[in-house]
Amino acid sequence: MAKDWFEWHDLYQTDARLQQRLEIVREYITRSLDAAPSGQIQVVSACAGDGRDLLGALANHPRAQDVQARLVELNPQLVERGRATLEAIGLTKQIEFINGDATLAAAYSGAVPADIVIVCGIFGNLANEAELQRLIRNLSYLSKSGAFVLWTRGHLDGVTHSETVRRLFQEAGFEEVDFRLTQTGDMGVGIHRHLGENTPVPNEEQLFEFIGKPDKYQIQPVR
Ligand SMILES: C[S@@+](CC[C@H](N)C(=O)[O-])C[C@H]1O[C@@H](n2cnc3c(N)ncnc32)[C@H](O)[C@@H]1O
Repeated sequence: MAKDWFEWHDLYQTDARLQQRLEIVREYITRSLDAAPSGQIQVVSACAGDGRDLLGALANHPRAQDVQARLVELNPQLVERGRATLEAIGLTKQIEFINGDATLAAAYSGAVPADIVIVCGIFGNLANEAELQRLIRNLSYLSKSGAFVLWTRGHLDGVTHSETVRRLFQEAGFEEVDFRLTQTGDMGVGIHRHLGENTPVPNEEQLFEFIGKPDKYQIQPVR
């Protein structure tokens, strides 16, 4: 069992569901980059972990030099590892890894509205559906009109939580671009388009509350 979020990231080495989820997230990031018009591509990633999704997708992408990104993560060890990866792939000038609280609107000041918004590994760590609705509503602060929003949501005890996420995005006026379950069948990965207008001033100082704990994660070994 992972004792903190740094240790939780070790599960990427052994957990089939996380490995498959990462593959799909990187594919969706690549698709979003491919679809971006010429010029600068603004990206933000909330609760970014060590950034392996975005940085992995950028490592060989022809548009990597066009990307300006801010990744926000609370765990300093993960930020350190993310910064080391940035050095290794030569993108330190345009990508910043902030050690801070991603639930606060202030963390994104100067980096939004974005063309690509990554909110992976968050929805399963919110208190309830109302909190998820609140976060989806607050995505209008992070997103340009037309922005791609990438998300993940695991299932638990047969409850298909990702269906709730899809419904709430639809109710909030987002367009579903794609949605896929991992081969393990219990992790949803989605990409939605924000069709509404950007909200240049946040509706609230805190966009969501992250209450999840790393030791609650249920491991799916690679078969
Ligand atoms: C489930 S992990 C997901 C990490 C990454 N997005 C991924 O998909 O691999 C959740 C991450 O959120 C971070 N986190 C938790 N609360 C946070 C907060 N208030 N601000 C920023 N990061 C936070 C944790 O440290 C952890 O790295």
